Amino acid sequence: MQFNYMLELLLAGLTYFILKIIYRLYFHPLSKFPGPKLAASTHLFEFYHDVVRHGKFLWEIEKMHFEYGTHEHHRFRRGLLNKLFSKKSVHELAPMMESTLRKLAFHFEEAYKRGTVICLDDAFTALTADIISYYSYGESLDFLEADDFKGEFREAAFELLSFLHINRFFPYIIPTLQLLPHWVACKVRPKMTALFEFQNTVVQHSLRSIHETTTTNEGITKPSKRGIVFETLNHPSVPAPERTLQRLQDEGTILLVAGTEVVARALTIAMFHLNWDKSLLRKLRSELVQVMPTPSSSVNCSELEQLPYLTGVVNEAMRHTYSMMRLPRVARTEQLKYEKYIIPAGTPVSMSSHFVHMDPNLFPEPETFKPERWVIAAEKKENLTKFIVSFTRGSRACIGMHLTYVELYQAIAILARRFDIELYECSIDDMRFVRDIGLGYPEKGNLTIRARVTGIVQQ
Ligand code: HEM
Repeated sequence: MQFNYMLELLLAGLTYFILKIIYRLYFHPLSKFPGPKLAASTHLFEFYHDVVRHGKFLWEIEKMHFEYGTHEHHRFRRGLLNKLFSKKSVHELAPMMESTLRKLAFHFEEAYKRGTVICLDDAFTALTADIISYYSYGESLDFLEADDFKGEFREAAFELLSFLHINRFFPYIIPTLQLLPHWVACKVRPKMTALFEFQNTVVQHSLRSIHETTTTNEGITKPSKRGIVFETLNHPSVPAPERTLQRLQDEGTILLVAGTEVVARALTIAMFHLNWDKSLLRKLRSELVQVMPTPSSSVNCSELEQLPYLTGVVNEAMRHTYSMMRLPRVARTEQLKYEKYIIPAGTPVSMSSHFVHMDPNLFPEPETFKPERWVIAAEKKENLTKFIVSFTRGSRACIGMHLTYVELYQAIAILARRFDIELYECSIDDMRFVRDIGLGYPEKGNLTIRARVTGIVQQ
């Protein structure tokens, strides 16, 4: 009897406890505030950090401010990087980019001498990866040192990308796969080896960035000069919870991934069209001669940006390069009105850039690569660039826009001025993007454009 009474009491207590947690998590007036569910449901969270860990709860609160401060937090993190990717900072990087481009030009020269075929998309991925890694870590990943440009890395990344849509509907698959030991994943998918190597490189650079500090004569600890981006992210003035290994890894990965493949794609698209219709290349070359008197002249970015036809080529490349994904924006506090429809506050609204860039009312014959449309618009003082939304707009817009433009202007100018190339076993169908896997892809496989270097311009 006594035992039953105790059991009933225990059950009642447990039920009360569970109901209270449910109430706190879902029905309490403060339940919508962001934060860890554990902290919202019980005081045991605070008990653990203050009592068991002896007065550490304050720093947990500091971490939560960073983690759950949503917009403000994003603004803070963006603020750290914004200056580094401003137009001014990026123009200061131009000499480093030009010397990396000269390494690529060396591969083109070798391919000419040997008569070998170059995979342009791999070559441009190597170029952009080396540039962004140097800027981030102070050390390039040296993709351009390899004769095959480490093309297996792209293949593995493409394979991973093919999970994109599945992941939307079954978001637990990728985290579960990530729990597998690397050797198991590599046995199942040998291509994953390249991705793990990449991941490991990011970890090593992040670790070194955290551990390699220098102490000045005044006893002040400073981060060593390990790449401008990492140096900034790991500066002692940045709050400690923002300087964890995980944070550096995450930021390093985002920058490398975001700053590599898409820019390479824009370059591939530009070089394909310039060589598919040679009349475009001839026009471009005759313009480039004005600022590059010899084929190996050094380039000045501000001068290149003044060239109308080159600007047309760059803008067309960007018009054809965009994320097909719908990237949502949320008006949290206000209703939106679209024609006769009211969209309630808090509703995610999104549209793919595809529908803007391929709108025949904005860009007649939208599939066609026509640098002239930009030349004509500039002459008429029409602001057509406002319809280029590849980088999106607003507080979440791409941070790498200026970097991208400098890379495109320089690379297109240097390669188009100097090298004659013939596209190899590819056709305009390779440029018809009919599948959305984040970016647009042709009917089968990855975007792959190969070419032979058939001549080196002498004057
Ligand atoms: C053709 C070139 C590029 C395109 C089309 C592109 C496009 C985009 C897009 C669509 C977004 C998401 C914006 C949103 O959520 O609305 C984004 C974000 C981002 N991109 Fe780029 N990107 C390019 C180049 C670069 C480069 C070179 C870098 C290297 C610095 C870079 C770094 C980033 C970063 C860090 C973000 C996240 C920004 C944030 O959340 O605040 N991107 N990019």
